Parts: sequence; structure tokens; C-alpha cells
Amino acid sequence: MSALAIIGGSGFGALPELEERERHQVETRYGLTSAPLIEGVLAGLPVWFLARHGAEHQVPPHRINYRANIQALADAGCRSIVALGAVGGLHPSCAPGTLCVPDQLVDYTWGRAQTFFDGELDGVDHVDFSSPYSEPLRQELLAAARANDQPLRDGGIYGVTQGPRLETAAEIRRMGRDGCDIVGMTAMPEAGLARERGIAYATLAFVVNWGAGLSEQALTMQAINAQIARCAEDIQRLLLA
Ligand code: HPA
Repeated sequence: MSALAIIGGSGFGALPELEERERHQVETRYGLTSAPLIEGVLAGLPVWFLARHGAEHQVPPHRINYRANIQALADAGCRSIVALGAVGGLHPSCAPGTLCVPDQLVDYTWGRAQTFFDGELDGVDHVDFSSPYSEPLRQELLAAARANDQPLRDGGIYGVTQGPRLETAAEIRRMGRDGCDIVGMTAMPEAGLARERGIAYATLAFVVNWGAGLSEQALTMQAINAQIARCAEDIQRLLLA
């Protein structure tokens, strides 16, 4: 049976509800994954879990070995990935605490190993990325939220920045003019690589702060971590459904 993978982002170095069966330390031809792959069972279904930033949250967004992570999940037989991501909110309807399944993205990252088709191992292919997220997987997440009576924003444009610093207020204003609703640092190249490997991919984003300059409150890691902790229970409930 082809399994689902969950990639945990900030605040999700582990998945408490996952009944762990085996841990796999994986080295791919692209190198080591961020953390061991954890094979387990969630709500009776086979699920693989990978901590994107490492189990100790030690790998910053621009240093993540996205190719190793996606290749390892592909090799494990995962055909779909739900990627968790803490994000900032730009659109007025994306206040801290909002959960969102974006349907589009804009990539502002640079200098990341962003493709398997780099002329070395895989030749070249130009994958269709018009719709970067898997619509069936997005719909499954929305159905789970409905079943749980949980609010979940359907759609939105995820602007992916390089980090690890947060944005300037002018950068956030520009992203707003570009149509971005939320901002985070990890959806790319992750989503693109999943598409190249033919894996259905959806992001479950949770808003942990207003984008820079959109609120009077200072952007501190303390405030962001407090909001991540407040979102954790909602995310876990949704994943169980
Ligand atoms: N910007 C980029 N990434 C983020 C933010 C943000 O404001 N909050 C959480 N991840």
C-alpha cells in the first residue's frame, strides 16, 4: 500500500500521535535527509514522518537538503506528502491562528538545489507546475477539517522567501501586491521536487504571526513559538482525521 508522508516543519520535530514502528537513517544519492525517516501508524494508516529542520530544529530553511528528503520519501514508496509549514499572514483573513491549504505559490528563493533535473543524474524534464499543489490532496484536507468542524482556509498564495531572516516591511508590501496571502520559507523547492518525482503534495500552513510591518507587535521568536504551540493541537486533530 502506498503510504502518506507527513513533513513536519517548525514546532513539529516529532508527531506525538504517530505509533512508531521503525526509524530509517537514509543516505540518498543526494546526501542525508534532515532526520531519520520514521515509519509508523497514524489513525490506523501507514504514515511516514520526516522532520524537515531535523529532530532538534537545527537545519535552517536555506540549508535543508530538500532533494535528499523528497528522494528518500519517494524511495520509501510515499505517493503523497502533507507538508506542515508555519507561515506569516499577509491577507487580512490570514490572522495568527489560521490554518490554510494554499492552492498557489510564488517562489522568491534563490541558490537552493531546486531540481532533480540538473543535468547530472536524471537528464532533463520540464514538469507542469501550473497548479503546484495536488488538488485531490487539498480536498482531502478540507474534507477532514469539515468532518472535525475545524475552520480551514481553502486556497491562497504562499510566497516562499529565502530566510532565515524575516522579511522587511517593504518586501511584505511587495508580496502583497504580487497577490501573496501567506509567507513562509520552505514550500520551495519542496513542492517542485515532489512534482518532479510524481508525488502528490499539499501544504497545511498555520499562521503564526502577521507579516513584517502589518502589525504593531514586534516580531519575536518568543511570540512565534507561543503561536506555534497554540496551533499544534489543531494541526494534530486535523491530521488524525
Ligand atoms: N515570514 C517568513 N516565514 C515565516 C514567517 C514570516 O513572517 N512566519 C513563519 N514563517
